[in-house]
Amino acid sequence: MAARPLIDGFGRRITYVRLSVTDRCDFRCAYCMPLDPDFLPKREVLTLEELETIARAFIARGVTRIRLTGGEPLVRRGVVDLARAIGRHLGHGLEELTLTTNGSQLARLAADLAAAGIRRVNVSLDSLDAERFRRITRRGRLEPVLEGIAAARAAGVAVKINMVALRGLNDDEFLPMVDWCGREGFDLTFIETMPLGHIEEDRTDRYLPLTEVRRRIEARYTLVPTAERTGGPARYVRVAETGQRLGFITPLTHNFCESCNRVRVTATGTLYMCLGQEDRVELRDLLRSGGPVALDAALDRAMALKPKGHDFVIERRGAPPAVSRTMSATGG
Ligand code: 5AD
Ligand code: SF4
Repeated sequence: MAARPLIDGFGRRITYVRLSVTDRCDFRCAYCMPLDPDFLPKREVLTLEELETIARAFIARGVTRIRLTGGEPLVRRGVVDLARAIGRHLGHGLEELTLTTNGSQLARLAADLAAAGIRRVNVSLDSLDAERFRRITRRGRLEPVLEGIAAARAAGVAVKINMVALRGLNDDEFLPMVDWCGREGFDLTFIETMPLGHIEEDRTDRYLPLTEVRRRIEARYTLVPTAERTGGPARYVRVAETGQRLGFITPLTHNFCESCNRVRVTATGTLYMCLGQEDRVELRDLLRSGGPVALDAALDRAMALKPKGHDFVIERRGAPPAVSRTMSATGG
């Protein structure tokens, strides 16, 4: 264990950081962001060197897993260099470097990312139907994403698919997705839509509790509960027929905060202690004026701020989002 592990006010040890490298994205998923989002001016975004310094500060304090996120992390120029730089810590405190991506650039970058030390990626894939994929992402194309997924697999990177359950948009595709992932050998995680940031539509219309998703899958498959936890929000089961792992991220129907082991850093260096709360510490200016020493002290201050949990509600029509920033702004 690290000499000075990061432990919050509720005794939870922080071992996992999600590091956003950009708030930009080449897609505009309707549940995630508005069509015309106000992306950050580039000068406000951390440099690749600063991102690496922040990663190093966390690793020195006992963080063992780092996930690069966005926005879409692979649209940031130099992201492979960053992965390589952070990847050098693998085996020296860092145990795992992962990535969450929409897959659009993966065909081009998968081999380099694998060489940098990334062994697992999460790919967001809400539909296997090209037209529908376009409708949900509002500008994405399915084909390059499928090619990217294949490239990742060819590079020896394990792929997990993330599918947001959306009433009226992809709610007839849960079983086909389980079938497809079973055939391809991918784990699959379903996600409930979370009230993060302003979008055009009311998320209540799309919200579909995963209890319903699970019920539909159970009509066809035998789901065996497992004790596997990653310290995150997902609960896992195994599909007896295929051996494949299924996860359910149910922030709204079940709360998962008591075992939370993670924090998030935005592309501008804001350290958010919870996806669904405002508690934060601004790292960028501290880093620029005080260097790694100031950064290290800020991590201790942050621990005292980590809230007990989120307060998501979505059942109430017209309720404002829990926080005004979108998932893409916080780092998914
Ligand atoms: N609710 C639920 N999931 C979301 N994602 C982005 N925004 C939201 C939201 N408001 C998903 C993406 C990706 C993962 C990181 O989060 O689809 O799979
Ligand atoms: Fe981009 Fe992911 Fe948001 Fe879709 S969900 S717009 S892919 S950041």
